Amino acid sequence: MAISASFKSFHCASFVFLHLPTTEEETEQNEPRDHMANLTSGYPSKCLLQSEALLQYMLQTSVYPREHEQLKALREQTSKVCGTEAVMSVPPEEAQMLSMLLKLANAKKTIEIGVFTGYSLLATALALPEDGKITAIDEDGSSYEIGLPYIRSAGVDGKVDFIESEALPVLDELVEKSKLKEEELFDFAFVDADKVNYGRYHERLMKLVRIGGVVVYDNTLWFGTVAEPANPSLHPEVKEARKSIIEFNKQLSADPRIELSQVCIGDGITICRRVA
Ligand SMILES: C[S@@+](CC[C@H](N)C(=O)[O-])C[C@H]1O[C@@H](n2cnc3c(N)ncnc32)[C@H](O)[C@@H]1O
Repeated sequence: MAISASFKSFHCASFVFLHLPTTEEETEQNEPRDHMANLTSGYPSKCLLQSEALLQYMLQTSVYPREHEQLKALREQTSKVCGTEAVMSVPPEEAQMLSMLLKLANAKKTIEIGVFTGYSLLATALALPEDGKITAIDEDGSSYEIGLPYIRSAGVDGKVDFIESEALPVLDELVEKSKLKEEELFDFAFVDADKVNYGRYHERLMKLVRIGGVVVYDNTLWFGTVAEPANPSLHPEVKEARKSIIEFNKQLSADPRIELSQVCIGDGITICRRVA
């Protein structure tokens, strides 16, 4: 199946992370590449741990032995079919944490923005009780088709309502519905889509997730670039996403409607609890 490499839908692409200079540009700006270049040359891990050995230790000891067989199969299939784009899936240690958060929050009704082939979606569906429900939104239904057989094999497809659409109009519709019925509110939300819209998603989710409910945002340390000076070599869309994430992190930090914790797993997640 042809997978679009469009950065619009990707927004965390490693293989297009750097704007690689042409030969002419190279002679003009022949500067040594900084550590981002090393990080992104080849096939980087999203993990921000300082040691690859430590990541492997964590995966081998606590993550892979507990990974559901259909999650493992989906992870492997995504890698096979999507190649380097597989980096878009949340890493397994992060999915395990999501699962833990969902259970600690006793979540039953959840929403996910940004599905891709469905690794985080399947992890969520497996963590929910039998009568749990997930509204899953992605503008690209073809990637979801890759994951669907695994979601079915795991026996959790009945919990998933997949909506193929841009997220904002769907959220606006849900906000209208929730004004009428409080039972339309969600216990938990996971956001892993276009970074430039995170601020807009947050405003809608503050109306859609119940007080006491949880919202988790992915990639909030953006491959570690948020703490580095702007790198002119970055791909323009990666640069734009970095800027959006930096602004978004400030927006969350100043928001009195939430409590938050930014956690260094994957390339950073921010866990928010709605308090007002
Ligand atoms: C990083 S991937 C999601 C990965 C997924 N959580 C997983 O674990 O496999 C981002 C997804 O967001 C979707 N996306 C990007 N912009 C979107 C938008 N404006 N509305 C809906 N989906 C969007 C893309 O199609 C892509 O599948």
